[in-house]
Amino acid sequence: MGSARGVQIFLLLTLCLGLQAKVFTRCQLTRELLKINFSRTFLSNWVCLIEQESDRNTSALVVKTSRRKYYGLFQIGSEYCKEGKKGGKCDITCESLLDDDIKDDSVCANKVFELEGFKYWSKWEARCKGHTLPDIEKCPDWQHPPSRASPPRDKRTARGKRTVRRFSKRSLILNPLI
Ligand SMILES: *[C@@H]1O[C@H](CO)[C@@H](O)[C@H](O)[C@H]1NC(C)=O
Ligand SMILES: *[C@@H]1O[C@H](CO)[C@@H](O)[C@H](O)[C@H]1NC(C)=O
Repeated sequence: MGSARGVQIFLLLTLCLGLQAKVFTRCQLTRELLKINFSRTFLSNWVCLIEQESDRNTSALVVKTSRRKYYGLFQIGSEYCKEGKKGGKCDITCESLLDDDIKDDSVCANKVFELEGFKYWSKWEARCKGHTLPDIEKCPDWQHPPSRASPPRDKRTARGKRTVRRFSKRSLILNPLI
């Protein structure tokens, strides 16, 4: 396939995915990040990062060069994904970083954070680090965390597994003391 054709298809895909674009308000974003498993400790940093990088727009796309693009809410760079098929350091398609499902974006953003820290995001460094962070504690969901009673799809099992894992880690630490 010629690369021009590849670009055409990609643009078409992007256009289609554009229909699923979502722009969150600050409190909607806070709610969504709390519903996923973001820790409260760094949540205002994540919200600041997202506001600076993508304006809370799930379909934000910044094209620096044909090889250097930044995708979605977290503006994750091309080295973390692959166009058209799964790949990159997050083993996902870049297109999946542009839709309104931010669960996979979040998993990938956390991978970026693990590997490179917040400093990966130059706008976090320039406009969030050491600055006043968004006042998300005013958001209703900060005080009253969103209900997990009806999590979509497999969230419940994922959460259950995590609790078990955390618990067994703690047991491992406690066991030698017994
Ligand atoms: C949430 O949990 C998933 C799987 O348990 C993990 O891969 C992801 O990094 C976690 N995200 C956050 C924000 O902690
Ligand atoms: C969100 O980003 C897309 C892609 O860059 C753009 O077309 C759209 O206008 C943006 N939406 C808003 C409300 O800024």
